Amino acid sequence: MSFSERLKADAALIEARLQAVLADRADQPVTHAMRYAVQGGKRLRGFLVLEGARMLGLPEDRAISAAAAVEALHAYSLVHDDLPCMDDDDLRRGQPTVHRKWDDATAVLAGDALQTLAFELLCDPALGSGEVRVALVAGLARASGIDGMVLGQALDIAAETASRPLTLEQITALQAGKTGALIGFAAEAGALIAGADPAPLRRYAAALGLAFQIADDILDVTGDEAKTGKRVKKDAQAGKATFVSLLGLDGARARAAELIAEAEAALDPYGARALNLIEAARFVIARET
Ligand code: IPE
Ligand code: IPE
Ligand code: MG
Ligand code: MG
Ligand code: MG
Repeated sequence: MSFSERLKADAALIEARLQAVLADRADQPVTHAMRYAVQGGKRLRGFLVLEGARMLGLPEDRAISAAAAVEALHAYSLVHDDLPCMDDDDLRRGQPTVHRKWDDATAVLAGDALQTLAFELLCDPALGSGEVRVALVAGLARASGIDGMVLGQALDIAAETASRPLTLEQITALQAGKTGALIGFAAEAGALIAGADPAPLRRYAAALGLAFQIADDILDVTGDEAKTGKRVKKDAQAGKATFVSLLGLDGARARAAELIAEAEAALDPYGARALNLIEAARFVIARET
């Protein structure tokens, strides 16, 4: 199977798990908005969970609820990121954003409920013992909260009105929070489920997460709306602090390539078993979506 076929196959498994967990819920506009918000996307974070688990010898049914949890959490972050009080976007995954299709209140509530759904999914006994599930819950909570994604989002919004441009160190910290923390959790989750040492995967994800956000920032400048499924050329206009704003396109591309080499090197201990994760790293900077 090629990398893109594998990514698609894993995306279908994750989609099925998410639609199943949302099937028997209250018949409410918020539920419909939740189902809508979890559709589509590359499912890269879920892929990292499943491939990390497989690399450590676990079958996918032992990790699928964690992959779905990470994608539910990510979907929540996108619904809120698109709100008028945040990035004010009208297009996501090629469709109207949730607050445009419904309204702001529905988007806030659908995001809230997708976040709690993520933690509900991490309580699935298929993931392991109570201790393993508590470690997963704590890991996702830390990655997405005030020391992780929420912090990064707060720094991102604050930078729009900062009196001077952020330094490289400040932009790195911002991006490590807003994108890196959840990607870090996704890459480590398989090791938590398998009871394996998460250190190599943590090093891999630290480099990968940063490269992922650099690629996102580059796509905002060079990307095609029909392919990315979201509006482009918005970051500069909004005064966002990105690697592109600081280093320019070539500097940002060079930094992303260095980071991918670092990510690959971190997986040396796994030899050929790491091939799918290495291909994921290459995909992150080559992608057009
Ligand atoms: C977009 O994430 C938001 C960022 C954190 C940069 P993705 O590019 O993974 O979005 P989907 O899930 O594929 O739509
Ligand atoms: C979003 O970053 C990060 C989170 C949702 C946590 P961006 O604002 O750059 O993502 P896009 O470009 O809207 O997908
Ligand atoms: Mg944003
Ligand atoms: Mg945005
Ligand atoms: Mg972006």
